[in-house]
Amino acid sequence: MFLFGGKRALSEAGVLRGWTDWHSHILPGVDDGVRTLEESLAVLAWYEEQGVREVWLTPHIMEDVPNETGALRERFAALCAAYSGPVGLHLAAEHMLDPLFAERLAAGDVLPYGDEPWLLVETSYFNPPMDLDGLLEEIRTRGYRPLLAHPERYVYMQMADYERLAADGTAFQLNLPSLAGAYGEPVRRKAMELLRAGLYDRCGSDLHRLSHFSGAMQQKALPAKSLPLLSAILKP
Ligand SMILES: [Fe+2]
Repeated sequence: MFLFGGKRALSEAGVLRGWTDWHSHILPGVDDGVRTLEESLAVLAWYEEQGVREVWLTPHIMEDVPNETGALRERFAALCAAYSGPVGLHLAAEHMLDPLFAERLAAGDVLPYGDEPWLLVETSYFNPPMDLDGLLEEIRTRGYRPLLAHPERYVYMQMADYERLAADGTAFQLNLPSLAGAYGEPVRRKAMELLRAGLYDRCGSDLHRLSHFSGAMQQKALPAKSLPLLSAILKP
């Protein structure tokens, strides 16, 4: 069955070496991710060991977690002041497509990927928001390219939906733990299908707790023959 040497853990396959993490909850105390500065620094120390090169900190902004962009910038500056290691730190945000997002977008108050006009967005795992297509169109009209977080986790989306969204200009961000089965077998299968279809543009950890992420990276989960498919989205 395993014609190409069976399955490997993502960490032992060298996936994290030189990697840019496009989605993480490492900025402390602002959402359901890392809680303290010490915990953030421990994550970054582990990233150093693994050879991770850059990380985008993408805290949630949503009606339930209505982070202000100014406060996030201040918290980010404090983390940068406390961290002196080699991992490059950058601030963006994971924007939930809800009514608060529509308000913030209209006011130009969002956090894209620095000079790159990409905007990380998510929806509920179970239901699309009202007028998903209209929201994505509004993002494009304002000069951003929507980068949909972990598309493999949305149970309401099927391959035809992904293909249509991609054709309309939405990019996709893979959660690495999805490949390790961290969210269950249906999500893993969907992630492999999207990977084989060449639909992913970027790749992130979606790290909330170091133990969860490092555990997933040590699972013997990835078919070795799939590694070349990953390489294109690991170091953009
Ligand atoms: Fe996230």
